[in-house]
Amino acid sequence: MKQAPEILKVLWDEAAIQVRVRELGAQITRDYERNLSETLTRNPPIAVGLLRGAVIFLSDLIRAMPIPVECDFMQIASYGKDSKPGTLQLVRDLQNSVCERHLLIVEDIVDTGQTLGHLAQKLTARGAASIRFCALIDKTARRRTPVELDYVGFRLQEDAFLVGYGLDYAEKYRNLPYIAALKPEAVI
Ligand code: IMP
Repeated sequence: MKQAPEILKVLWDEAAIQVRVRELGAQITRDYERNLSETLTRNPPIAVGLLRGAVIFLSDLIRAMPIPVECDFMQIASYGKDSKPGTLQLVRDLQNSVCERHLLIVEDIVDTGQTLGHLAQKLTARGAASIRFCALIDKTARRRTPVELDYVGFRLQEDAFLVGYGLDYAEKYRNLPYIAALKPEAVI
């Protein structure tokens, strides 16, 4: 695919992403097998993908997890300026109850931490048996709400805007097979 002129640099190419996602899948599988061994078939974990950015990551991740796993999706929108805490709105809720279920929240990128902090409270209140957080990218420069991530694909300390492999800017670039930083002047 021809690289768009707004792309500053590729941070992780397709091969690096695939290797890391397979490692994460293996690590998550080991942990669930160890902790849930005899209940895995009776009460499989639910991989909860946050729409829309995590769809591609979740599809690859669950195929790297050779254990019973269900999928569900939530969508949370944030309204507000970048510099101010946005107001979060639940746009799409889970289809099934999470009471007594083991949840693996799958997020594309954690930025301020607001979304995952909000979700942790909400899903705990609904009686989830356990909640683990898996983020493809942990972008720490603007963190406001501390979140404990159980599984992280890649860490980024700079405050760059990333696109590709599900991540978008104004709904563009989700289909790039790599993850890249956009040129700052392309982000308005
Ligand atoms: P948080 O609540 O500030 O952690 O926001 C997380 C959400 O913001 C992610 O699920 C993305 O939808 C979006 N986001 C934050 N940083 C980026 C980025 O660099 N590229 C694309 N989306 C981003």
